[in-house]
Amino acid sequence: MLSIVYASSAVRLFNRAELIELLEASHKANQEHGITGMLLYRGGNFIQVIEGENEAVIQLYENIKADPRHNNIILLSQDPILERQFADWSMGFRNIDQMTRQELEGFSEFLEDDFSPGYFREHPTRAYILLLSFKKTMR
Ligand SMILES: Cc1cc2nc3c(=O)[nH]c(=O)nc-3n(C[C@H](O)[C@H](O)[C@H](O)COP(=O)(O)O)c2cc1C
Repeated sequence: MLSIVYASSAVRLFNRAELIELLEASHKANQEHGITGMLLYRGGNFIQVIEGENEAVIQLYENIKADPRHNNIILLSQDPILERQFADWSMGFRNIDQMTRQELEGFSEFLEDDFSPGYFREHPTRAYILLLSFKKTMR
């Protein structure tokens, strides 16, 4: 299996309805293709981990890269895996903009920082740490 993590910027801010539409389509397609993972959205930027069988992950990443709704897509890691880290989520999702200060309290120190693809390009492991820390809040 393979795990890919990338960062990107929305071409324009997504509203709630657009995020829900993206999530619903992703859940359905991911279930069909055995993809699991987590998507975080903050201030018009995304980070996402997708995991599954090699071909399925590579194909999905190609689709995602071609999606006109976002750009500045930066591959942060592409690693073989023996087991899934996000097995329970066909695509876990958090809109960090919608979370209260209290909800974010004690959260990763990295949330103090910028959430742009350029930032994560310089600190690629921080994206994965953030994705994993949000997983813990979704149990
Ligand atoms: C930030 C972002 C994350 C996405 N995540 C997924 C995903 O996890 N699964 C998925 O099937 N499509 C996802 N998509 C949508 C794909 O880019 C693409 O629209 C989808 O694979 C359908 O492609 P198709 O119409 O060629 O079948 C995402 C799009 C964006 C902008």
